[in-house]
Amino acid sequence: MKTVILLTILTTSLLCVGGDHLVVGNTANRVVLAEHKRVEYNAIPFIKRVKYFFYSSPDNKVIQGIQALDTLHSKASINITAGGVGHSFVNMRMKSERGKALGYDIGIYVNPQYP
Ligand SMILES: *[C@@H]1O[C@H](CO)[C@@H](O)[C@H](O)[C@H]1NC(C)=O
Repeated sequence: MKTVILLTILTTSLLCVGGDHLVVGNTANRVVLAEHKRVEYNAIPFIKRVKYFFYSSPDNKVIQGIQALDTLHSKASINITAGGVGHSFVNMRMKSERGKALGYDIGIYVNPQYP
């Protein structure tokens, strides 16, 4: 019975979240936001928009965590194509739904006490 309730809660929250979020590494513990950016691209009819987001740490800090939230709760997707956690840079590829806008809220986390 408990499992059923738990599963229901889990599926419901997953459905509510909707869009494709990406959270990797540590975004909570003893880390600070090194970069916070909201990217938005308008819809183009019949086209899947593909955009890249690049971040490189100006002081060569190692990225501890990355969080990218689909602000439009669409069926967009985002992947890390280079670098990422453990590197001082990251390149991400975003793709919208066909004919839909693209929007991500991206946070890059580093540890201030760490190189
Ligand atoms: C990310 O990777 C998945 C699985 O390989 C793929 O289905 C998706 O289209 C990719 N998205 C982007 C934006 O590259």
